[in-house]
Amino acid sequence: MSASDRDRPVRPHQAHAASFTHNADEYAAVRPGYPPAAVDLLVPSDAHDVLDLAAGTGKLTEPLVARGLHVVAVEPADGMREQLTARLPQVEVHAGTAERIPLPDASVDAVTVAQAWHWFDEPAAAAEIARVLRPGGTLGIVWNDRDEDVPWVSAYDALLHEAAGPQLARGTYPTLGNAFTDVLRTDVRWEHVLAPEDLVRLAGTRSYALVLPPDEREALLERVRTLVTTHPDLAGLDRVPVPYVTRVYTARRR
Ligand SMILES: C[S@@+](CC[C@H](N)C(=O)[O-])C[C@H]1O[C@@H](n2cnc3c(N)ncnc32)[C@H](O)[C@@H]1O
Repeated sequence: MSASDRDRPVRPHQAHAASFTHNADEYAAVRPGYPPAAVDLLVPSDAHDVLDLAAGTGKLTEPLVARGLHVVAVEPADGMREQLTARLPQVEVHAGTAERIPLPDASVDAVTVAQAWHWFDEPAAAAEIARVLRPGGTLGIVWNDRDEDVPWVSAYDALLHEAAGPQLARGTYPTLGNAFTDVLRTDVRWEHVLAPEDLVRLAGTRSYALVLPPDEREALLERVRTLVTTHPDLAGLDRVPVPYVTRVYTARRR
């Protein structure tokens, strides 16, 4: 993948988006959550009703619920919704997409989108989010990016054909249209500590690996295992601090 390819917004094939449903257990086990400083930014302190859109297995839903917010989750993949309901039985969960949100107009104070905006049809999603938000309500979009300035991270991401960075070009913002204002970006740096084998499992949850034929997938995960056990910065570690730069974008509905 060339540098210019990596900087281009990702508009993935539907098979990649649909792939999440088959690996929801692994996803829930090894994908990172979101640091409290990022959650603080995603939802304003006066919000009450929150939609966690593309909620997946509930990695962001959970800290939102823990803050006492009334959270509704929308997620298209059956396997992800099942994990979410098992984890957070008190949360109202709907099958739906960002382009067709199954909620009434002006029904929430805040919408959160974690690690998923790049799967959306941006104009359609922005219009739907504006519809379900109350005037003055907020949209919070977040990505956990591994810090590719760290050499082993860069090698790991190269194996996965992933830019740790942005599914959006560096320095650009989600396209939200005229319904939104006050668009801001804030970065939060932190580390997610994993066992080396969990770094291999993490690679297996990436959409690139999920859609490979089984033999190619196994070969890829073996290359990741070799990297994780032999890279000079990782060899011999039984816990690996994975450095993240969590990018938070916030905007307000006019
Ligand atoms: C990388 S996961 C993130 C899940 C969760 N928000 C998290 O932080 O762990 C991306 C999620 O987006 C969902 N998704 C894909 N396309 C979508 C769409 N058009 N509308 C809503 N959700 C979508 C997938 O099913 C998947 O659960």
